[in-house]
Amino acid sequence: MPRSNTRKTPWPKILLIALLAGGLQTACDETGKEDAEKAAASEQQAGEIENLLDAFEKDVAKEAAARSKQGSEAAGEAAVAMVGDPVAGRKIFKKCAVCHSADKDGGNKVGPALWGILGKKKGTAEGFNFSQAMRDAGGVWTEADLNAYLESPKKFLPGNRMAFAGIRKAKDRADLIAYLKTLAD
Ligand code: HEC
Repeated sequence: MPRSNTRKTPWPKILLIALLAGGLQTACDETGKEDAEKAAASEQQAGEIENLLDAFEKDVAKEAAARSKQGSEAAGEAAVAMVGDPVAGRKIFKKCAVCHSADKDGGNKVGPALWGILGKKKGTAEGFNFSQAMRDAGGVWTEADLNAYLESPKKFLPGNRMAFAGIRKAKDRADLIAYLKTLAD
């Protein structure tokens, strides 16, 4: 029995193999197709990602440009703050003139005389009865200290007696300080 079996052409086996091979072939074709589709899809995806990256890069560039513009505007403002206009400052000083004289020989009024105030030791105007806070303040009136004091006297030197709310605009303070600078020999 086994002998005759081996001699016989194994048609069913061949058929099976053929079928299997055919099946495999179609399977391969399909995977091939799938691969091609996948490749196309991933190519498309890559394209989309590239577009997204492009858009992102453009956004980043735009933002950077906006930032640097802001930065230069801020720097411009700071520069303006540094170079105040003494003529404009003289007008603003009207708010101060109620209490302060700006003349060389101007005496003390409600507030101390302000001639030569830049670089002058705080709380030392002759003949003026300063608050303890001002007498203890220490140091000289620098532009930075004047700027802070004139923005908010109360905040800069708690307990000082200058009844003045402060000047809100940095530009106005810069102008005023530029004017105060001119009150010197
Ligand atoms: C209502 C009155 C009044 C006004 C308005 C006023 N000040 Fe004064 N100021 C004073 C008094 C009072 C003092 C002394 C404060 C103390 O002793 O604590 C003073 C102190 C000062 C000092 C310190 C002087 C020193 O010798 O150390 C400066 C600087 C100053 N004022 C600038 C100004 C400027 C600039 C303005 C206008 C923006 C102004 N003040 C507005 C009343 C005033």
